[in-house]
Amino acid sequence: MDLLAIDSLSDDQIATLLAEGERWAEANRTGAVSQAPLEGRIVFNLFYENSTRTLMSFSVAAHRLGAQVVTLPVEQSSAKKGETLDDTARTLNAMRPDALVIRHFENGAPQRMARIMDCPVINAGDGTNEHPTQALLDALTIRSHFGRIEGLKVAICGDIKHSRVARSNARLLPRLGAEVRLAGPPALLPADFEGIGDVDTAIEGADVVMMLRVQRERMADDLGDAPGEYLARYGLTAERLKRASPDAVVMHPGPMNRGVEIDSAVADDPQRSLIPLQVEIGVAARMACLNLLVGARP
Ligand code: NCD
Repeated sequence: MDLLAIDSLSDDQIATLLAEGERWAEANRTGAVSQAPLEGRIVFNLFYENSTRTLMSFSVAAHRLGAQVVTLPVEQSSAKKGETLDDTARTLNAMRPDALVIRHFENGAPQRMARIMDCPVINAGDGTNEHPTQALLDALTIRSHFGRIEGLKVAICGDIKHSRVARSNARLLPRLGAEVRLAGPPALLPADFEGIGDVDTAIEGADVVMMLRVQRERMADDLGDAPGEYLARYGLTAERLKRASPDAVVMHPGPMNRGVEIDSAVADDPQRSLIPLQVEIGVAARMACLNLLVGARP
């Protein structure tokens, strides 16, 4: 089994991953991870895009489960000599890893990899398409704070157009009973966008406000806005957050552009910000994914 997209998971698989994620989060918190269910297994990390938390999170998760991690330094790999992704897949497959985690700048690259690899392939983010383990960790984070997801209003705001995090969350959270409201600057909404659109409206009464990074590296032209303009018009400030529910929490998948999509006062507010918790729970979510996919193999 691979983990490529939210829609390829059944409701039962999602429920299992969340329950297992909760179990690992608790074990990590109390230091009670004594077993090493993936001992002797080898996990390949293949990151064609920059990453801090997702790369480290998968590595830590695999190590905590007792597996060994081999990370391909893509910058020094044969991809730079013109090797195709399919040939890279055939090469890596011949080494018989037990799982492969891939992040790639092209939509669909993990699917291509999975067609060739015999081991489970996990999508750690492909282009502007999906980032399923981020959505799972976001769901777990919301559930760990509120004790539920059902009935919550989740505003996801910012660069929706380029966000695989928004796409995966917009597929997962409604299946768990949340109302998802997507909003951002008109230039950063997808062409076929239907929904709220306006950031202030989306935040109104929201229980969760999830801000997204402005992904300048995926834009042909710069937004051209003056410093501070994005924050004032579309970013999350303490003032704008007042529109949300009084108990609202703030999330961000990271990395943050401080002072652009989010003000530091909000990002660092210990009463409101779940951002460090997202990272902590991210390890547990990936432990659940790796254990389910790799541990199930004969
Ligand atoms: C995101 C990503 O790479 O999709 N980051 C992450 O994985 N936590 C979001 C982003 O890059 O803005």
